[in-house]
Amino acid sequence: MPRRSPGHRSFSPRTGGDRLVGSAAVARDWTPGSWRARPAAQQPDWPDEGDLDRALKVLSSYPPLVFAGEARSLQASLAKVSAGNAFLLQAGDCAESFEEFTANNIREKLRVILQMAVVLTYSLGVPVVKVGRIAGQFAKPRSAPTERIGDEDIPSFRGHIVNDAAPTAAARIPDPERLVHAYHQSASTLNLVRAFTKGGFADLGRVHEWTLEFVASSPEGRRYERLAAEIERALKFMRACGVDTESTTTLHEVDVYTSHEALLLGYEESLTRTDSLTGGWYDCSAHMLWIGERTRQLDGAHVEFLRGVGNPIGCKVGLATDPTWVLELCELLNPNRIPGRLTLIARMGADHVEDGLRPLLAAVRDAGHPVVWACDPMHANTYTSASGRKTRDFATIEREIAGFVAAHRAEGTWPGGIHVELTGDNVTECVGGADAVLDEQLPDAYHTMCDPRLNGRQSLDLAFGVAELMRTSGLV
Ligand code: TRP
Ligand code: MN
Repeated sequence: MPRRSPGHRSFSPRTGGDRLVGSAAVARDWTPGSWRARPAAQQPDWPDEGDLDRALKVLSSYPPLVFAGEARSLQASLAKVSAGNAFLLQAGDCAESFEEFTANNIREKLRVILQMAVVLTYSLGVPVVKVGRIAGQFAKPRSAPTERIGDEDIPSFRGHIVNDAAPTAAARIPDPERLVHAYHQSASTLNLVRAFTKGGFADLGRVHEWTLEFVASSPEGRRYERLAAEIERALKFMRACGVDTESTTTLHEVDVYTSHEALLLGYEESLTRTDSLTGGWYDCSAHMLWIGERTRQLDGAHVEFLRGVGNPIGCKVGLATDPTWVLELCELLNPNRIPGRLTLIARMGADHVEDGLRPLLAAVRDAGHPVVWACDPMHANTYTSASGRKTRDFATIEREIAGFVAAHRAEGTWPGGIHVELTGDNVTECVGGADAVLDEQLPDAYHTMCDPRLNGRQSLDLAFGVAELMRTSGLV
């Protein structure tokens, strides 16, 4: 499998409609490998092409991680979000780790997501679509290919799917075996997520049991307990009426979908398969894939790859964009204007989001593109604290969401959801929150391999904050 096929340099303009095969739209002049003719940003320098090709070949022979029908269900749910009738909660690790790979870790993350979802569902009164940054969120784009350690320049850490985080030149050599390892870890993570979400752990009758010990005694923990008690009472009433949670699937189970940044295109290509039901192509590494801020070039390989898969897809949208660019992106990624197909994830910074986002909202609205707008309030609000740690301030995160909601309110569009980095662990990576983490406490439990994440308390706090914002804005 050649990394670049030089014979593939010319491509026809991608205007005009896509072809319909069976019931699936097939993008024009697209194949799972057509991205190889385009410049691909942020790809590792694999030391041996032969080793890479062998790893990708192994992956191509493995079973898909998700089923195309599930990706379509997620898209149908996201269509409701795009129409203003549901809310998206996309949450999880910045980068999953090969080392912190335990049942506890997965369960705690899930607990926080379920708690946030319950708070949002109860307070907003609309369905909450739950998507984890989980079971495949391994690869990290970097601002520089190398990092200065002492007097040596060594390759940057690109996530456990590529290399090791240890600050030595040897640890940082990209190893294609890690692609295969990432697949297996994703498979077992997804297996446990399915077990928990379908096997009774997510039963609404257990709403009290999701509270983590370190959250229970905090102000947000007590607030959650009050809300959980109200739900309990409602369920008791329902039980008295003859409806119990165990035998009612919608109360007993939840759908938690998987997602990650589609950064390593060889990996994504190797897990791309045709769906036996519709004949369409799906990237079966996750239900939803997104394009990052650093790889969203319109003529680049990432846009080329994702335009051809049938999954719901996302794209991060920063301040360095304009309405023309966003409309071109929408045309490339969703020419057939399928509701729920495209999620635009704004990450502009608390100070800029309201003014920066409004022209984009207006342009997309006027062009009639049925996108989901989500707010990533994390990535444009990172700074280095006085103690030298990369951190984010809870108040600033909330302020970006407030600006995001205000922009939508002004344009008459629906603030469709949030995209956040969190963990169930009691970490001290972001400062602030109701039970404030202070700057000097950051070193206490600073465990992230990459960006600072909200801990369980801060995540819950944020869910309450978002619910309040939506209510005071008169949106729900
Ligand atoms: N299945 C419903 C939903 O996902 C209700 C539900 C069951 C639920 N368990 C949940 C909602 C846990 C949030 C959290 O909305
Ligand atoms: Mn991140």
